[in-house]
Amino acid sequence: MSVSWRPVEGPLVKELKKNLSKSCRDLVEVHPGRLVVYIYHKDWYQRQLDFSVKKDDVWVITYPKSGTTWMQEMTWCVVMGIHHQQTSLPLMKRFPFFEWDSMIAPDFMDEKLCADDPCLPGNTWKIMANMSSPRTIKSHLQVPLLPKQMWEVKPKIIYVCRDPRDVCISYYFHYVKLNGYKKELSDFVEFFLADIMPFAPFWSHILDFWRRRDQENILFVRFEDMKEDLLSVVQKVADFLGKQLSAEEVIRIADHCSFGSMSKNKAVNNETLPAAENEKAKGLKFMRKGKVGDWKNHLTDTQIKAFKEWTFKHLEGSDFPYYQDYE
Ligand code: A3P
Repeated sequence: MSVSWRPVEGPLVKELKKNLSKSCRDLVEVHPGRLVVYIYHKDWYQRQLDFSVKKDDVWVITYPKSGTTWMQEMTWCVVMGIHHQQTSLPLMKRFPFFEWDSMIAPDFMDEKLCADDPCLPGNTWKIMANMSSPRTIKSHLQVPLLPKQMWEVKPKIIYVCRDPRDVCISYYFHYVKLNGYKKELSDFVEFFLADIMPFAPFWSHILDFWRRRDQENILFVRFEDMKEDLLSVVQKVADFLGKQLSAEEVIRIADHCSFGSMSKNKAVNNETLPAAENEKAKGLKFMRKGKVGDWKNHLTDTQIKAFKEWTFKHLEGSDFPYYQDYE
């Protein structure tokens, strides 16, 4: 299929770009589908599409801020074992971010980073090329942009979704901390609902996996399920990946993946990622609250109504049953 790239444009986009660090301003839409990605994606599109997928790969795929890191760490521990000596290695080395190189400028440099840091251009791609099986790989890419072999080779895919209202709040604080976002949440809500953020559109991202949820190589999980009963989700992931775990191992993994434990774990808490240097970003943590329903502390009635209209519009004709509790 032939695709085309267009800059993401319009007054809202102008406003968003004015309030971001330079490195994360330029986004493009891939058509068909109006899929929002970083401008560098164009140089990586074909390479990513042609990426050799292995049957025993394990992919964790999400829309950003849906509990990706949480599911990555849990999955890695299930695959490799909770006692594995590499548990303390940075997650980006153990569980590379598939499209990372297409999110950064090819000349990106940061003196604070070691030469092999996965954040530096080309390193993530190298990590994936040299990884032994089973490879564990993270992606936020929309279905049409994922490797073609994904649908033929059928590796294991764990997809995690989260209430868009909580995703939006989490994405806002992420933008303030890591992307130098300077405006208020009210503006950010507009950007989010306009689906101009990286890896938008939100609903087609989820629904493309929801429709595939019954395929035996796909596990569809909600952030809210993980919050409600982490032990059951660890067991579900283990069953899905064909791993026999003792009751004690399940408990240990759930404990290791608790919010308290992950917040203190340098290998996963992302505190080494370069943060914006301004008052607004000061003190914000990547492992922020880890709660369900934090949106209730932030959204106004008008914003909640806007979320409702947006959600109902995009879910029309779909059997997706969640996140419609507005009465
Ligand atoms: P909040 O900002 O709402 O706290 P991602 O990894 O996709 O970027 O998602 C980040 C969100 O997942 C953040 O949400 C973060 O706190 C939450 N999170 C990460 N690990 C968690 C854990 N062990 N328990 C609960 N939430 C977790």
